Order: sequence, then C-alpha cells, then structure tokens
Amino acid sequence: MDLLSIDSLSEAQIGLILDRADHFFTTTREGRPDEPLKGRIVFNLFYENSTRTAMSFATAAHRLGASAISLSVEHSSVKKGETLEDTARTLNAMRPDAVVIRHRDNGAPATVAAIMEAPVINAGDGTNEHPTQALLDAATIRKHFGQIEGLTVAICGDIRHSRVARSNAKLLPRLGVEVRLAGPPELMPADAPGLSIDEAIAGADVVMMLRVQRERLEQELGDRPGEYLERYGLTQSRLATAKSHSVVMHPGPMNRGVEIDPAVADDPQRSLITLQVEMGVALRMACLEMLVGGSA
Ligand code: NCD
Repeated sequence: MDLLSIDSLSEAQIGLILDRADHFFTTTREGRPDEPLKGRIVFNLFYENSTRTAMSFATAAHRLGASAISLSVEHSSVKKGETLEDTARTLNAMRPDAVVIRHRDNGAPATVAAIMEAPVINAGDGTNEHPTQALLDAATIRKHFGQIEGLTVAICGDIRHSRVARSNAKLLPRLGVEVRLAGPPELMPADAPGLSIDEAIAGADVVMMLRVQRERLEQELGDRPGEYLERYGLTQSRLATAKSHSVVMHPGPMNRGVEIDPAVADDPQRSLITLQVEMGVALRMACLEMLVGGSA
C-alpha cells in the first residue's frame, strides 16, 4: 500500500501507527536498538526544500536498520528535462523497498505511486496533503495529554496553502477532536470560511500555528513589520484566552515574529514544537515499519 493521503488509512491503521510511534519514541529515548528493516533500502526524493521532514525520514530509516538514499534533486537528471514518470520508471528498476517523495505539484506522489512497485509515502505535495505531519501532530498531542479524544485544536494562519492543515482537518476529527480553522480572509480557502483567530483560540486545548507561505503568495501581507503578528499571529495575550493548560504547536519552519511571538514559541511550559520533531522520527519509523515490514 501507499501513504498518499490520510484517506489512504483505515481507523485500525491509524491506531496501529500511533501506538507504534509511541513505542519507537520510548525505545529511541532509551537507546534500545530495534531494527526490523535491516537490509532494506528507502529512497528519499525531495523536490522541494525540507529540513525536518527529509532528515526525519532518513533518521527513521536508519533507526530501523534500513539504508536511506537521497536523490540530490539539484544534481539529478530533472535538470536535464527528465519527466517525473521517467524518473519513477528508472528508480523502480533499482528495486527500492520504499520511496518517500516531496514535490511542489499536487498529485506528484500519486503519479509516482502508479509506476512504482514499492510503497510510496507522500512527504508533502504542493497545497494538497502531508499525511505524516498530521499523524505526528496527533501522536504528539496524545503523548502530551495522554489522550486525544474530546480535545479542541485551533489551526491558525495560512490555511489556503497548507497541506498540513488539510491533512490535519481530515485526521483529527476521526480521532474525536474538534478542529477550528482560522486565518486572514485572504488566506482561507473559498470552501472553508472559518472563524476569526480570536474565536478559534478562545478555550482551545491546542493552538497550532501555520507558516505564512511566502513562496506560494503573490503579494506580501501587511504594510509594516509586526502587522501580521498583531492582527493574526499568536501573541501571549491571545494565548491567554486559550485553556490554562493549553499548548502551542507549529510544523516548522517558523517565521518568528510573523505568525508567532518568539516568546510563545520558546516557552518551555507551553511549546510542543521540539516534541513534534522528536515524535516525527518515531512516527515515520512506524509508517515505514507498517508499509515496508508487511504489517499493513
Ligand atoms: C511544512 C511543509 O513543508 O508542509 N513543514 C514541514 O513539513 N514540517 C509546513 C511549511 O512548510 O510551512
């Protein structure tokens, strides 16, 4: 099977992935080796910039005993005009055990999956989906609160361009979470009018901020520095309206001082941002194990 969208997963598979992520989180912290994929090969194809997701998939593969091989897109034949389909046929002939792909075009992972015999994992396609990010967000929330059902999660910011928001909006309600989407009117999708930032944050258990995706925007937002933070960002005074035990998340990379006040991002009591990164490796171990190890 492939992991192209949250829709690719059954309830049972979601439960299994979250449980195994928790297991790998603990075994990693305790330094206990766990190498069910020894000798396997994972190809990482990142056609778009990435720090967290690329390193996290590579680390996850290595921790499972597999080898991760990254295509250096800058130096690849894409630069000579090779099509994605031809690249997929070429890589398929090398018989990898899994392929992880990030691409700026919506649907590119599905195009590759239609050609590849090995499982394909979508590591983010355009403005479409980023299923392993949503899964790691859910695993992080569950780890922190001990459970996820019944919580309220406010997802705020550039909803229109966010594959993270799309995948979370599909996944979290399946786990019993109330999802509130909010953002500046020009950054909300036409089909999801949403709430104001203040309405979304009031009384929330989790406030998940999204990066303003400048690379996908035609014009700058706001005329002066600090305007976005004041109007739509997560400031300490906005966070004070959420539940007293509420936590802050961000998939990264952050625009400090734009969508989030640095003091909020760095607050050790409230910020789960580095826990998200740590859980990200464990979660990707769980996905690779399920897809490559044959427990799907
Ligand atoms: C996100 C992405 O690339 O979709 N980052 C990530 O994977 N952690 C969010 C973003 O780029 O803003």
